[in-house]
Amino acid sequence: MGEDTKAQKLRLDRWMSDLPAPIKDMPLIFLAIPGSHDSMTYGITRSSAVAPDAEPILNRLYPLFRGTILRWTITQASDTWHQLLIGIRYFDLRLATKADEENSFYFTHGLYGEEITKALAQIKQFVDTHPGEVVILDCQHFYDFTRQDHHRLRGYLLDLFGPRLVPRQIDLEAITLNSLNRLKMQIIVVYRNETVSSTGEFWQPQMMPSPWPQQDGISGLLSYLRNVERPPSTGFVHQAVLTPTPTFIVLRWISSLREKCAVPVLRDVLPELAQFSPGRPTSKRNSVSRSPVNVVIADFVDMNDAIFPRTIIDLNMKLLRHTEYSSSG
Ligand SMILES: *[C@@H]1O[C@H](CO)[C@@H](O)[C@H](O)[C@H]1NC(C)=O
Repeated sequence: MGEDTKAQKLRLDRWMSDLPAPIKDMPLIFLAIPGSHDSMTYGITRSSAVAPDAEPILNRLYPLFRGTILRWTITQASDTWHQLLIGIRYFDLRLATKADEENSFYFTHGLYGEEITKALAQIKQFVDTHPGEVVILDCQHFYDFTRQDHHRLRGYLLDLFGPRLVPRQIDLEAITLNSLNRLKMQIIVVYRNETVSSTGEFWQPQMMPSPWPQQDGISGLLSYLRNVERPPSTGFVHQAVLTPTPTFIVLRWISSLREKCAVPVLRDVLPELAQFSPGRPTSKRNSVSRSPVNVVIADFVDMNDAIFPRTIIDLNMKLLRHTEYSSSG
């Protein structure tokens, strides 16, 4: 099949429901799923205030170098709805409270993004109108959160998503797109704080490890991605992102994270990721085999007509080759 026909055939807004039937019976943690890194930074604007996760020096630099700081803080251009439409099914969420607002939560990345209600309502609307699509919300970091804040956020998420939530279970391999579809469950919340760990509705951090590569160069990132090990029966997040250090930024002051990090990843790392496969991690890896992918995240996921999510979604077709069903696909 030519590239053009393939691109036309792939409906990014409902790629999960369109997957060949045998793949929908495979564990979700063994499928390839595109996600966005620091998903909600599109909501950061020139009027955003410095947030509690910022380096202290940002308070002094921000009034002077607002434009530059925004260029190095924003990691996504597309809003939540558009990310969903281009196939993104995993959102990396960093949350903070605001001192003068008792009842709100905000997205954050050094600067405050939007209050969370609008984006989460869009996710709810998306799953309501796209049965068969499953969205993972990874609550990664919390800033200025008290125990009460965690409980309040928990209550909010339970109210909003209720029966759509995929409860955690011991055997994650039992969860497939088909099994979720039958139960009309479409939202997985990973909650990386123990305060609400008694809540069976949310997944615990160890069910979807997301180690940080902490690399500012392509060769370091490539070698990280080739060598990272994943546990056998959990989900996993491969972070295909470069993290600029302060020195890196100072030397590229007039540029942006998009140009100096996201563009090189697309050019030099995505072709390598296209060689990865989803599937079950095995213990007998050798020097050329790599851990299979599950969730893969990147910055600026909409670039080049969404080539990133398209490439990751396509990896799932490799699963057909490894099954007895390959002729029916
Ligand atoms: C979880 O949240 C509580 C309350 O804000 C905090 O004290 C604790 O350090 C957090 N745990 C982790 C692992 O960050």
